[in-house]
Amino acid sequence: MIRIRRQSAHWRSAHVARRPVKAASWRGCTLFAAPLLVAVWAGFPSHAFAQAPAVPAPDQQVALVTGSTSGLGRELALRLGARGNHVIVHGRNEERGAEVVDAINAEGPGNARFYRADLASLADVRRFAETLLADYGRLDLLINNAGFGSAPDERLLTEDGHEYRFQVNYLSTFLLTHMLMPRLLDSAPARIVNVSSGAQTPIDFTDVMIENDFSGRRAYAQSKLAQVMFTHDLAEELQGTGIVVGSLHPATYMPTGMVRRAGVEPRSTIDEGADAVMQLVDSDDYESGQYFSGLRPTRANDQAYDAGARARLKRLSQELTGIRCRMGRCRYVGG
Ligand SMILES: NC(=O)c1ccc[n+]([C@@H]2O[C@H](COP(=O)([O-])OP(=O)(O)OC[C@H]3O[C@@H](n4cnc5c(N)ncnc54)[C@H](OP(=O)(O)O)[C@@H]3O)[C@@H](O)[C@H]2O)c1
Repeated sequence: MIRIRRQSAHWRSAHVARRPVKAASWRGCTLFAAPLLVAVWAGFPSHAFAQAPAVPAPDQQVALVTGSTSGLGRELALRLGARGNHVIVHGRNEERGAEVVDAINAEGPGNARFYRADLASLADVRRFAETLLADYGRLDLLINNAGFGSAPDERLLTEDGHEYRFQVNYLSTFLLTHMLMPRLLDSAPARIVNVSSGAQTPIDFTDVMIENDFSGRRAYAQSKLAQVMFTHDLAEELQGTGIVVGSLHPATYMPTGMVRRAGVEPRSTIDEGADAVMQLVDSDDYESGQYFSGLRPTRANDQAYDAGARARLKRLSQELTGIRCRMGRCRYVGG
């Protein structure tokens, strides 16, 4: 059993450290460096003193694509930037994140900013959400795309002690989405797209962390079904709010990082997957909560339609993340 720990410094300090005064002159450096040092020393929110980042214009739509440093998420971020959105690029790899941000800012008409957060740390997810709430007055689109595939075929744990895929692919999405909900509600009409997969295995509620009969494929498929179940619940909770939510299997074996790591021969293109996601972003022609395979609405695993199983998953997710829901409204209460 391997326990994965965060590999580098806290994302917020990393964000400050990355090219803090890149474009400034020497005189600018001293002007910016003094408050930065004071801020770090005094524990002020570091994002307040980070390099001048792209900020959205008052009428510009803001989109967050989790896991947009590579693969499908990268393509989605580029497409949204090319449409004029302000794109919040997210992942762990700062170099690849900066490359995506630079490409969007250079190409226009949209702009972008990178945030590092490790979804294998619930503390990181909370800080990420809190910082986005502080930095952005609106959020029109949330694409929960980040994911960790079935390879390696090893049981991994997060720093919170949870089964790795369950947390990275599902639990952190649950926490992040609920914490960002006030901004999405303020910005409605808004949209949430959960990038799931056709690989779906029912959750065994007596062994959610898969201590027995573990396989990477089972862990991945359970986490992906959990995303679809979450999407159904969200659709119910968000009725009448102007927020539409959908989930999908984007395309089968696109040539992305997780498919390469699994050693599988690609069968479709990243463009096909991105077209399917963008359909859920753009179309007014589907019912909130619907699950798609590529461009077609389809039926997910039976457990997604089992209200009892969904309620169990929701209870467990609340316990593990500190989210509490009352009268259909959920918020972070700590824990
Ligand atoms: N590829 C396919 O054929 C296929 C099929 C069905 C569904 N999907 C779904 O499509 C989505 C995108 O995957 P992909 O195929 O594009 O794979 P990918 O190239 O491996 O991209 C995964 C993304 O998720 C991020 N990520 C992974 N672990 C993370 C963590 N602990 N914290 C924060 N970010 C993390 C990665 O960022 P960093 O590397 O910067 O951490 C990267 O940007 C996933 O949800 C996947 O399940 C893919």
